[in-house]
Amino acid sequence: VNILFYCEGDDGTLLQAFRTRLPDHHIVDWRSERITTAACNITAAIVWLPPDDFFEAAPDVREIYALAAGVDQLLVHPGLPVNATIIRLCDAGMAQQMAEYVLYGVLHAQRQMGMFRQAQVSRQWAHDITAKPAGATRVGILGAGALGSRVAERLSLNGYTVSCWSRSPQIPDQRLAHAVGREALPGFLSTSDVLVCLLPLTDDTAGILDAVLFAQLPEGAFLINPGRGGHLVEADLLDALQTGRLSGALLDVFCVEPLPACHRFWTHPSIILTPHVAAKSLVAESVDQIVESMHTFARGGIPPGVVDRHRGY
Ligand code: NAP
Ligand code: GLV
Repeated sequence: VNILFYCEGDDGTLLQAFRTRLPDHHIVDWRSERITTAACNITAAIVWLPPDDFFEAAPDVREIYALAAGVDQLLVHPGLPVNATIIRLCDAGMAQQMAEYVLYGVLHAQRQMGMFRQAQVSRQWAHDITAKPAGATRVGILGAGALGSRVAERLSLNGYTVSCWSRSPQIPDQRLAHAVGREALPGFLSTSDVLVCLLPLTDDTAGILDAVLFAQLPEGAFLINPGRGGHLVEADLLDALQTGRLSGALLDVFCVEPLPACHRFWTHPSIILTPHVAAKSLVAESVDQIVESMHTFARGGIPPGVVDRHRGY
């Protein structure tokens, strides 16, 4: 099998890892071989942020392996072959990191670290600030997939009161409180002191974190968004922080990345931001998963992570 490879930011480590694991396949490095016309017999592609003309070299590709959990950028690629099956990463080392990231944000909110930070700036001994116990802090997670479910598990182990919201009733851990579908969203939001967004970015979820949603959260709720920048209506967040409807936010993803230097978020006292680093796919785990998926297809099976283009994830 000939496989076309492109991974933005790869220093050659990932490419080499695939070549080592797939010695019988010819893995073509799109960047160094600069293929501009259809190359022979390319039946699979492995990609992260491929350039617009990437698929001109592989118009008949049957399988496209995304080096990411989210495929929102890939699904709007102008040259995406219509009949190819897209397979995304499921966890691949990201769930543990995401659990750590969200736990950090939940601890920040529950232990009121933002208030202590402000008190420190004005040299105030804020001894009267008291934290709610973990069990009295209700965390709502939008999305209960590969990442959301592991985050929920981690937070539950730390004693938080956790609930998840998703589209279908399937959930890996039946012990988790679980709300399903749009009708259940208001009730779920009304009990989310901390709201975490781990949804995929789709037509259905774009802009979900807006003023209407914020109005349904308890007063002073805290937002954690490691999903996608397109989930958040940025101006509505600024308004909600201004009025105190939200007390703060931890953001990892933005409508424009890198976040422009002039953006208000950089200096906002109630926003902590990180540069899309909440969870990075790990090389060994990603390679193992993609190689295993290739074998599953070769045996006539269907691996995990096949994207439903209509649903958008
Ligand atoms: P996943 O396994 O596909 O899980 C997605 C979850 O969202 C599922 O529970 C799904 O419900 C739910 N969902 C989707 N559309 C919905 C809707 N319209 N209404 C209600 N629930 C909906 O995805 P994942 O692997 O956990 O990844 C989630 C997202 O995290 C990715 O798409 C990506 O945007 C983001 N991410 C960010 C980073 C980072 O470093 N910041 C790293 C990795 C991933 P069903 O189960 O019912 O289908
Ligand atoms: C990273 O954001 C991913 O979707 O894997």
